[in-house]
Amino acid sequence: MNDSGYGLLDGKTGIIFGALNEDSIAWSIAEAVHREGGQFVLSNAPVARRLGNLDTLAERTDSSIIWADATSDDDLHDLYEQVAEEHGSVDFVVHSIGMGVNVRKDVPYQDLNYNWYQKTLDISAVSLHRIVHHGLESGALADGGSILALSYIGAQRIFSKYSEMGDAKALLESIVRSFGYRLGQRDIRINAISQSPTRTTAGSGIEGFDAMYEFAEKVAPLGNASAESCADYAVTLLSDLTRMVTMQTLYHDGGFSTMGISDALVEDLADAFKEDGE
Ligand SMILES: NC(=O)c1ccc[n+]([C@@H]2O[C@H](COP(=O)([O-])OP(=O)(O)OC[C@H]3O[C@@H](n4cnc5c(N)ncnc54)[C@H](O)[C@@H]3O)[C@@H](O)[C@H]2O)c1
Repeated sequence: MNDSGYGLLDGKTGIIFGALNEDSIAWSIAEAVHREGGQFVLSNAPVARRLGNLDTLAERTDSSIIWADATSDDDLHDLYEQVAEEHGSVDFVVHSIGMGVNVRKDVPYQDLNYNWYQKTLDISAVSLHRIVHHGLESGALADGGSILALSYIGAQRIFSKYSEMGDAKALLESIVRSFGYRLGQRDIRINAISQSPTRTTAGSGIEGFDAMYEFAEKVAPLGNASAESCADYAVTLLSDLTRMVTMQTLYHDGGFSTMGISDALVEDLADAFKEDGE
């Protein structure tokens, strides 16, 4: 790895949504994009102003912040207007936003509070649609651009404690495909990275996260992918090197998604069964 980057994003300008603190996947992506020569505006919900430390990241990467709730059409409209005024057009957008309201409040899947469920879907999936819609409507999204969202394998397979977030990620990945078709007319591409369990604020809000993390770590041949390695992968998807890749869910998970069981897990389970029998 070249610490000073490869200039993959020289001359490109974008928006990165969802950096809250140093643990955030979007934080690592912002640092990697900066290293590769890209410029960007950082955005997060107004409430993140007091919950996180986005100012530090903005200072470190020489970027500005526009606070916007990604579920608000007015906020997103204003955000693109400001971005267009200050930077002209936008070559890339990173959507790294998620929250499971029922999950946070420990409501089981069969008893979901539907208002919270709608909020979960709105924040974690529909916001991607809104962000792309307003990007197009404002005229800010440039031809040949790249849009990236963050997903999890819970979109495709059941991870019991992931609950409603599995539905949100399934919708997110579907929006990636549906918009991908339409954006292709302007050579704009859109993809989702399906990332390993990662220790972040959103991650740790999921009951049983540590068990999911350890399980994936034991099963994936390369182990869990870190936020930093996710950021390196993200940079390639924002660069022109991947200009023919679109509408994909791309697994960045150390090989987890192709595995069944591993020796490490078999041995652990055998030990556990032995202890149970004693
Ligand atoms: N942590 C993991 O294990 C993991 C694994 C796979 C995918 N992901 C996904 O990665 C993305 C980033 O999450 P993270 O793990 O870095 O956690 P994080 O908590 O650092 O990031 C989530 C972000 O969403 C923002 N957000 C919430 N509501 C919002 C709203 N209404 N408007 C704008 N922003 C809002 C939060 O402020 C926060 O910055 C999410 O989509 C998450 O589902 C995470």
